[in-house]
Amino acid sequence: MLKGKHIILGISGGIAAYKSVHLLRLLRKAGAEVQVVITPAGKEFITPVTLSSLSGKPVISEFFTANTGQWNSHVDLGLWADAMVIAPATACTLAKMATGVADNMLVTTYLSAKAKVFAAPAMDLDMYRHPSTARNLDTLRADGVTLIEPAEGYLASGLTGKGRMEEPEEIVKVIEAWMDASASLKGKKILVTAGPTHENIDPVRFIGNYSSGKMGYALAGECAARGAEVCLVSGPVSLPVPDGDIRRIEVTSAAEMHAACLREFPGMDAAIMCAAVADYAPAVCSDSKIKRETTGEITLRLVPNPDIAASLGAIKTPEQKLIGFALETDNEHANALSKLRRKNLDFIVLNSLRDPLAGFGKDTNKVTVIAATGEEKSFPAKSKTLVAADIIDFTL
Ligand code: CTP
Repeated sequence: MLKGKHIILGISGGIAAYKSVHLLRLLRKAGAEVQVVITPAGKEFITPVTLSSLSGKPVISEFFTANTGQWNSHVDLGLWADAMVIAPATACTLAKMATGVADNMLVTTYLSAKAKVFAAPAMDLDMYRHPSTARNLDTLRADGVTLIEPAEGYLASGLTGKGRMEEPEEIVKVIEAWMDASASLKGKKILVTAGPTHENIDPVRFIGNYSSGKMGYALAGECAARGAEVCLVSGPVSLPVPDGDIRRIEVTSAAEMHAACLREFPGMDAAIMCAAVADYAPAVCSDSKIKRETTGEITLRLVPNPDIAASLGAIKTPEQKLIGFALETDNEHANALSKLRRKNLDFIVLNSLRDPLAGFGKDTNKVTVIAATGEEKSFPAKSKTLVAADIIDFTL
C-alpha cells in the first residue's frame, strides 16, 4: 500500500521522538520514500544523522541550509508528498498548526501541504487534558487532520495516563488504511450537483435559496481525494473548485442544471444530487427590468421546474448509483423515504432544518443516510468534509 508513496515525517520536540526512528524504519520497509522535517527542538531529542541515514535523504530543519544558503522549499515539499505524518506532535506544534504560526520548517510545510495530514500527539497527561490542547485538536480535526489518538500508559514525566504517542506499528496501519481508502474510487466517474439554482424574473432579479454549495463541494472534493473523476455541476456559489480531478460545469437555472446532468449522467458510475434546486421558475422572464413606477402590483406566475434527480432515476442503469438529499422540516423520515421511492434513488441523505448544526451555509452537518434496501445509518454532527466521507463510505 505504501510502495512508492511520498511521505513527509514531521518530528517535533518531545521525548517520543525516539519512536520516530522506528516509525521511519517501518515506513521505509513498507516501500515509502520518506522526507524527514524536524523542528529545532526535535533535534535535541534525536540526531539528524540517524534520521538521514535511515531515510536516505538529508533531514530538513531550517528554511536555509546554513553553509550553502540553499532555500528549502516548503511549497515543493508540500506538493511532493502523498501524506504527511507528524509524530510526535507536541502540544506546542499542535497549537502552531491550529493557528498557523509558521515559525519553523515543520509548520510551514504543514501549511503548504496539499496532501493528507496525520498527527500523533504526544505529551504529558495534564497537557493533553488541558482545554487549550482540546480546542487546538478540535480545530485540527475540523481542518481535516487525522489525529492518531495517544495511548494510555507510563509517561516520561513518571505519571501514568493518556498522552503516550501511539506505537509506530499502529501509526503505519492508520496511514495504510487511509491510502487504501484514498484509492477506493479510482477509475470511477461521479457526477455531483451542488449549490442553489437562480430562476430569473428579469435581468436583475431572481428567485433563489440559501444553499451555499459547501456540502456538494465537500462531496466532490472527497470523491476526487479517493481517486474518482468528478463532474461537478454547480449552481451560483462563491466557492473554489476543490483539489483533484474535478471538472466544474457552472449553471444558473434548474433548466440548465437539468440539461447538464442529462448530458453527463450516461457516462457516470454514480450521481450525488446535492443541489438545492428551485422547484419553480417564473413562467416568463422579462427581457427588461420590471419598473415599479409603471408596473404597480405584480403577480408572479410560477411553473414547476424539471425534477433532475427523478429524471436521472428514470434512466439509470442497474450499475449506476443515484444518491439524493432531503432537507425536511417535518415528518422527516417519512418524507425522505417517499422521496427515495418517487425519484428511484438508491440512497437518500436526510438532514433536518430543525437541527442547529445542519443546513444551509453552516460548516457542519448532521445526517441520516437511508438506503433503498431499508438499511440506514445516523451520524453525529461533523464538519461537512467529514460528513462527505461518511456519506461516501456508506453509499459508494
Ligand atoms: N432535486 C432535483 N431537482 C429538483 C428538485 C430536487 O434534482 N427540481 C433533488 C435534490 O437535489 C435532492 C432531492 O431531489 O437530492 C430532494 O430535494 P428536495 O428539494 O428536498 O425535494 P423536492 O423533490 O423538491 O420535494 P419538496 O420540495 O416537496 O420537499
